[in-house]
Amino acid sequence: MALWGGRFSQAADQRFKHFNDSLRFDYRLAKQDIIGSIAWSKALVTVNVLSHDEQRKLEQALNELLNLVQQNPQQILQSDAEDIHSWVEQKLIEKVGDLGKKLHTGRSRNDQSTTDLKLWCKEEIKLLIDTIHQLRQSLVITAEQHQDAVMPGYTHLQRAQPITFAHWCLAYYEMLTRDTNRLQDTLKRLDVSPLGSGALAGTAYLMDREQLATWLGFASATNNSLDAVSDRDHVLELLNNAAISMTHLSRFAEDLIIFNSGEANFVELSDRVTSGSSLMPQKKNPDALELIRGKVGRVVGALTGALVTFKGLPLAYNKDLQEDKEHLFDALDTWHECLAMAALVLEDIKINTDACQQAAKQGYANATELADYLVAKGIPFREAHHIVGEAVVGAIAKQKALEELTLDELKAYSPVIENDVYSILSLNSCLVKRSAKGGVSPEQVKSAIKLAKQQLLI
Ligand code: ARG
Repeated sequence: MALWGGRFSQAADQRFKHFNDSLRFDYRLAKQDIIGSIAWSKALVTVNVLSHDEQRKLEQALNELLNLVQQNPQQILQSDAEDIHSWVEQKLIEKVGDLGKKLHTGRSRNDQSTTDLKLWCKEEIKLLIDTIHQLRQSLVITAEQHQDAVMPGYTHLQRAQPITFAHWCLAYYEMLTRDTNRLQDTLKRLDVSPLGSGALAGTAYLMDREQLATWLGFASATNNSLDAVSDRDHVLELLNNAAISMTHLSRFAEDLIIFNSGEANFVELSDRVTSGSSLMPQKKNPDALELIRGKVGRVVGALTGALVTFKGLPLAYNKDLQEDKEHLFDALDTWHECLAMAALVLEDIKINTDACQQAAKQGYANATELADYLVAKGIPFREAHHIVGEAVVGAIAKQKALEELTLDELKAYSPVIENDVYSILSLNSCLVKRSAKGGVSPEQVKSAIKLAKQQLLI
């Protein structure tokens, strides 16, 4: 039976009921709804709606219900209750009879549903931070193992300057650290309890909402009941966090897909995260990475969808707000999965150091070094840049690398060039010289790894 039967003489059309019901997705909030209900029952004691004895009975029944749903959350789906709030109330009444009917005094599903979702978000943020932590850890460990793996770094997907695989890993470590910080910021703002805001205008039972908030583990209670029941900023922030982080993961995936291509052959992915082709026996496809890259679409879609749903909603609660959950659940599940999959890909990735090194030597990735060398000999950078440009054209014509040109050939571009140029043009020199903070020098990378390990407490 619906919670609002009294005013109605006709049953809901089945098609409308299916359209309106949210149990099929908000059943995931069972635990939070029960915990919120226990706290609410305590608040009802303080305003003399429930006796201590009644509250104890309700709390016990609610805890039994919690046990039951934790054993098998899916059982909830058997019910035809409209939503998780109706389901919990129905079950409670089945257990304790008329006493159960007192629980909803002074409360609305409007403050209840947003409280439940906020409680769920708080738990989910902790889980996400843990999953991100594991991926950050994998990145740092992989970086540590590949500090000597020199490879080309790219701009415009053109070989630009040599880097190391470790430096590449640490770039993603930084992005994921920011993702963690963003979640922590979001948590601070959402940690405010809406419970006791009623349907929209506040509850008519004079209770200490701050105390109620503390019972639920919130830092404080909301200031304005209209805002409290219709605020979904936390949903938008989490979706935004997910979308940004998924953008990072999609770049990670795309880089590795390129590194894994037959053309680059810098890395080899494990059989555990690749699949074959039904037709072409030679193929080993980077499906895990392609799915990570692709799934960013649904997460950005969820963010966009939620923004559009919430836009222009009049205060306060409107049923449109029920749409918050499917977007959020799908996006956060997807994010979790992709984070875990990215860590799995790193687990036994192989780096073909020879192919990486060969590629780093090609493409005139040391041209900047030659320009810097000329600068050190007193030539202004702009002029040096021009001279090296000509030298590169000459070397391309001879199908040689810069360091393969003879001293005489080099001198033709600038007489200041001497024999000491060859050590400057080596890959090692390219790396070592970039020793200012954040650069690719082995010493910088080493200290970045050390710092990351301190941050991760490993
Ligand atoms: N299932 C609803 C939701 O998720 C609960 C709130 C319903 N409130 C109402 N007045 N119909 O938003």
